[in-house]
Amino acid sequence: MLPFAPKITEIADLKRIYARRVPKMFFDYCESGSWSEQTFRENVSDFDDIRLRQRVAVDMTGRTTASKMVGQDVAMPVALAPVGLTGMQSADGEIKAARAAAKFGVPFTLSTMSICSIEDVAEHTDKPFWFQVYTLRDEDFMRRLMARAKAAKCSALVITLDLQIMGQRHKDIKNGLSAPPKFTPKSVVNLATKWGWGLEMLQTKRRFFGNIVGHAAGVEDASSLSSWTSQAFDHSLDWARVKELRDMWDGPVILKGILDAEDAKMAVNVGADAIVVSNHGGRQLDGALSSIRMLPQIMEAVGDKIEVHLDSGIRSGQDVLKALALGATATYIGRAFVYGLGARGEQGVTETLEVIYKELDLTMALCGRRDVADLNRENLLIPAGFETRFT
Ligand code: GLV
Repeated sequence: MLPFAPKITEIADLKRIYARRVPKMFFDYCESGSWSEQTFRENVSDFDDIRLRQRVAVDMTGRTTASKMVGQDVAMPVALAPVGLTGMQSADGEIKAARAAAKFGVPFTLSTMSICSIEDVAEHTDKPFWFQVYTLRDEDFMRRLMARAKAAKCSALVITLDLQIMGQRHKDIKNGLSAPPKFTPKSVVNLATKWGWGLEMLQTKRRFFGNIVGHAAGVEDASSLSSWTSQAFDHSLDWARVKELRDMWDGPVILKGILDAEDAKMAVNVGADAIVVSNHGGRQLDGALSSIRMLPQIMEAVGDKIEVHLDSGIRSGQDVLKALALGATATYIGRAFVYGLGARGEQGVTETLEVIYKELDLTMALCGRRDVADLNRENLLIPAGFETRFT
């Protein structure tokens, strides 16, 4: 790191650098929600509505954030979420993020829509990572994807259930989002100002959807996320199929995109090991409630039967603490690590994790807790009606 590189003390520092460094098309892809972006905004503002209860004169020595996710040891219950196009935020981005996560001791989840392929990430990292799949029409391709993930020693499978059809994100359409970016008069003007990013990209061969290009038949334009999803995704998905997919993977299965207590019960019935309470970062059903607001009723329905993880809206260690105190056993960060990656590559992802860890540890201390496992509702001050305002 250069001696004059800015000091990073919070995620917002990384976001500022990220916004300057990465082409608008990829910044917008990360920093957007669907339609009016109400759910995208409320994912964050609902966390802000929950306050913390300050406690004093409680022994705060020997604190630990160590925990487990689907039976695996983690340094803190914060995994890196599957994020499409991560390798467009920084050259070889998935490899960089996976390395930073492995060194820190938290899981990295590789998206099917990654730029680096499963094999590539496995070859350049030395710890198992998790793999995320969408449910696809092409049974053969889907089975091959899972077999490739097994062969690469992926240690858990995350099945995304909330993106059979893609939520409309205005910015991506207007920007003509693709990987690699297409040269249009507008994009060229912006790309010309992103020379640091461009130089990196010229030095890598990984600029296409690595898991798809050359592996999936019948996709007309594999550079565009929206054309790939509309052609390849299985609109007839039902719980019987989810069960089949669960049984196809010999190992832990995490069902991602659960936002309703009834769906959470179904996830338990099909034998999932964990669910992720998620609205896909506000990128799918705009108007849905935030994950943190839905968490209490999901905990009540299945909290004693299955591991409940949460994503969507986590930007700080305080947010992690709030989710854990409301009952989640673990959390994921998506945008927060992309800011770090786009800003400073692998080092930036490490910095993201360090910031979140410090915030979680310090907040625990000031709340009078020494172990993440001891966090509970008594650590929170929750506004009246937080859980019941919407029925
Ligand atoms: C992919 O899952 C996306 O939200 O773009």
